[in-house]
Amino acid sequence: MAVRIVAAMEGMEEAIERLKEGKLVAFPTETVYGLGADARDADAVARIFTTKGRPATNPLIVHVADVAAARDLAGEWTPVADELAAMYWPGAITLVVRKTDAIPAVVTAGGGTVALRVPDHPVALEMLRRSGVPVAAPSANRSEQVSPTTAQHVADSLGQYADDLLILDGGACRVGIESTVVDATGGTPRLLRPGMMHIFHANAGESVPTSGDDTPRSPGQMARHYAPAVPVHVLPAKRLRKDRVAGDGVIQRVVVGQPAPEPSSNVQWLPPDPDGYAAGLYTALRLLDAAGVSRILVEEPPRGPRWDAIHDRLRRAATPKTDVQ
Ligand code: TXA
Ligand code: MG
Repeated sequence: MAVRIVAAMEGMEEAIERLKEGKLVAFPTETVYGLGADARDADAVARIFTTKGRPATNPLIVHVADVAAARDLAGEWTPVADELAAMYWPGAITLVVRKTDAIPAVVTAGGGTVALRVPDHPVALEMLRRSGVPVAAPSANRSEQVSPTTAQHVADSLGQYADDLLILDGGACRVGIESTVVDATGGTPRLLRPGMMHIFHANAGESVPTSGDDTPRSPGQMARHYAPAVPVHVLPAKRLRKDRVAGDGVIQRVVVGQPAPEPSSNVQWLPPDPDGYAAGLYTALRLLDAAGVSRILVEEPPRGPRWDAIHDRLRRAATPKTDVQ
């Protein structure tokens, strides 16, 4: 069988063996599931790109067990990297630093920097610690599509494309959207991709642009990304009620203090707070996509720093296919 889902506790031993043999393992992190291989093994990493259908120009994040393992892979471990790692790792923040020769060019899309992260998930940490392998892993979905937050999502996304994949099942991801990515090569941190690491965003204050189109791009970050197969439109509540037609799927926010209405095959309800909303967003998009709706209308969430990453992902999900860069 091309894809196997195994409970993390039962599959750990085999996962570690597979990494050492240059094979692929999908594993849970606190953000989303990753599609991993030994970052030092160029052939193994190349299989990640073919399985995802990912352009070779989009570099990968390397997951490590601790700060010491990160420093080993960094050509230069800057004071900024050191400070951010001490404050936020293990956690949903990825630090871009200069790389060493241990990291092959395929991981970094030919660039001289590498993105590093210590994930805050017991399964990922156990796999990294016990194997001693630095694991290159993008989100475990086909390129441009919605990131997986359960083991079943991984199987749904990659089942037809993977020759041989073990998926460690660690349940649903707590955070639900991808990590904050920060360039730590210079004297001040620069935000490359917003995430749900609110303390970082609050502490970084004005030294880091908070969101919007001015955000410096990571190589390979595309306008259309995190996107379901059907068109997505983000609309203010009033507009949504006016524009909605039969066949549309809808994502709405529960009103604060009120119980969540029953979901239906074409209406998904998300919690009113940003953390709850982020945790449920990708599942809601997937359920509506699978229900065969003709469009997905998303009630525009509130603004504010805690909602930045959510707006970023919704904007990319709503970018039409013709606008792909
Ligand atoms: O939460 C996450 O970050 C998940 C889990 C599995 O850790 N991973 C993830 O990977 O979202 P991926 O490949 O879907 O996104 C990685 C992002 C991309 O936007 C990529 O351009 C950026 O990190 N990136 C990777 N290496 C980089 C580098 N050397 N310089 C700048 N950006 C980089
Ligand atoms: Mg991704």
